Amino acid sequence: MKVNSKTTKSWFNCWSNKYDQTLGKISFHRDLLDLIASNSKVKDGDKILDVGCGTGLLSLRLLQKSDCAIIGVDYSKEMLDIFKDKIKKLKLHNKVSVGLIDANSLNFKKNTFDIVVSSVALHHLRDKLQVVRTIFRILKPGGIFIIGEIDMDSTGKHTDPQRLKRIVKALEQEWIPALQDAGVKAFSQMYDNGKKHIFNQGEYCLSFKQWADICKKAGFGPVSIRRVSRHKVFGVILAKKPVN
Ligand SMILES: C[S@@+](CC[C@H](N)C(=O)[O-])C[C@H]1O[C@@H](n2cnc3c(N)ncnc32)[C@H](O)[C@@H]1O
Repeated sequence: MKVNSKTTKSWFNCWSNKYDQTLGKISFHRDLLDLIASNSKVKDGDKILDVGCGTGLLSLRLLQKSDCAIIGVDYSKEMLDIFKDKIKKLKLHNKVSVGLIDANSLNFKKNTFDIVVSSVALHHLRDKLQVVRTIFRILKPGGIFIIGEIDMDSTGKHTDPQRLKRIVKALEQEWIPALQDAGVKAFSQMYDNGKKHIFNQGEYCLSFKQWADICKKAGFGPVSIRRVSRHKVFGVILAKKPVN
């Protein structure tokens, strides 16, 4: 069965109202958001883009740290609706806005943002170099791009046993905390996700080194990697747009 990006979007649309109680409750995800927020060095007045913002968990973390302005974009209307409810409840209209936008077609002006963040979203995109190049263009010189991801190289032939071993080894570190922290329902969601990872059905994960190489190819430098201390398979790729 071939799963296209439309199916991935439907998956998130259905998952949206359980998202914060499942993935949002798992220790590696919380730690990852904290790692992104602390490495962002966000300061008052910064203009930030959150790509694949979902229900806004990362954007809200960044807003707790500073008086910044955030645009969150996602292609799932249902995920965004949950984020919008939070914005309304927390009266954050003057700080956050959201857009129903596919990350493959980011259409912001050159040199717009101080920081671009993305947490466990960009692996859903097939053409990563194209989107990373666009992010490079819309970041201000000296701006930073932070990708929070799982370090998992899922490239190669589906039947290659070495590839399968790599994926299962990484996913083991995702499923066990999922079961422990968020219970059986979350685990069943993650297990479904595991099959998608194995067959590259809407999930096209890369190793951190592969991500770093893409960032360098797009013009970023320096590029570094930081890992979540309790869950080392998760971490961030930190890429700086040179000043000149
Ligand atoms: C696992 S969720 C992560 C949400 C949020 N960043 C977080 O860490 O909680 C992945 C999100 O990426 C979004 N997404 C996937 N592919 C996308 C695309 N091509 N354009 C925009 N959003 C996309 C999904 O709709 C979903 O909300």
